[in-house]
Amino acid sequence: MSAAGFADWMRSVQSGMEQALAECLPAEAALPQELHAAMRYAVLDGGKRVRPLLVFAAGALFAASDAELARAAAAVEMIHAYSLVHDDMPCMDDDALRRGKPTVHVKYGEATALLVGDALQSQAFLVLAEGTGDPARKLAMLRLLAEASGSAGMCGGQAIDLASVGLALSLEELEQMHRLKTGALLRASVLLGAWCGKALTPSDTAALDAYAAAVGLAFQVVDDILDATADSAVLGKTAGKDAADNKPTYVSILGLAQSRALAEKLRADAHRAVQPFGDQGLRLRQLADLIVERQS
Ligand code: IPE
Ligand code: IPE
Ligand code: MG
Ligand code: MG
Ligand code: MG
Repeated sequence: MSAAGFADWMRSVQSGMEQALAECLPAEAALPQELHAAMRYAVLDGGKRVRPLLVFAAGALFAASDAELARAAAAVEMIHAYSLVHDDMPCMDDDALRRGKPTVHVKYGEATALLVGDALQSQAFLVLAEGTGDPARKLAMLRLLAEASGSAGMCGGQAIDLASVGLALSLEELEQMHRLKTGALLRASVLLGAWCGKALTPSDTAALDAYAAAVGLAFQVVDDILDATADSAVLGKTAGKDAADNKPTYVSILGLAQSRALAEKLRADAHRAVQPFGDQGLRLRQLADLIVERQS
């Protein structure tokens, strides 16, 4: 595995995912056509696919098959896409631009956007349930994804986010919010990928957990930084929205310089966590770099 091969590896996972997702989603011609068209609009042709990349990088450490990894990655990406559709709705962040396109509720209306999120969530669990692996392991994967996306994970974090508008959160409270709303699904991506392969030792699990905790928090710290510093055209979503909405973020609480320093510290934590995997951990280290260095 070479550092130079990272871009090619990334492109190949991303294009494989586009195909896997297109196959996992209901056909546009199937009734109800409008809902299915909107589901495909929300998921396909856009997004960095960071969660699938984490699934594949972790899975490679444990000799997982591409077919099982694609299934797990599609499930996580559909949950993520659903979270974005709902996050953008007027009752939440009220955003009109996502992945460089009009948001789902702008294009298809609020009722359809609500149903797109609901249906993508169901589809994610359906796809994961249809895997061919060991039933006990499959059950554990379903459970992990449910926990990571529900009130103890992403939805819980979103609830805290919405309840925190205008509040001066402590650093601990902010970290908890970020770990739930974004970190939980990133952690699930790493573990689901690993669980697609051969059995993990307790020290494998501990290393992956430490890595996932670091990149999960780093991801949202960088999202907060980019909201404050990047252009909407580059981001593909409306920049400056957090400050306009009076959301507590790492930038509003720590300032830009300290937020960047925190992202760097988390990158180092992530690299350290996967040291036990030696050269095999290269892709996970490169993904930690991507998460911290990304411009969108
Ligand atoms: C944006 O996620 C929302 C957060 C959880 C911070 P991404 O930055 O992964 O969005 P896409 O999938 O690339 O559009
Ligand atoms: C959303 O966080 C996290 C989700 C669970 C979707 P943000 O509200 O900061 O995400 P963006 O900036 O709109 O992508
Ligand atoms: Mg939000
Ligand atoms: Mg938002
Ligand atoms: Mg944001």
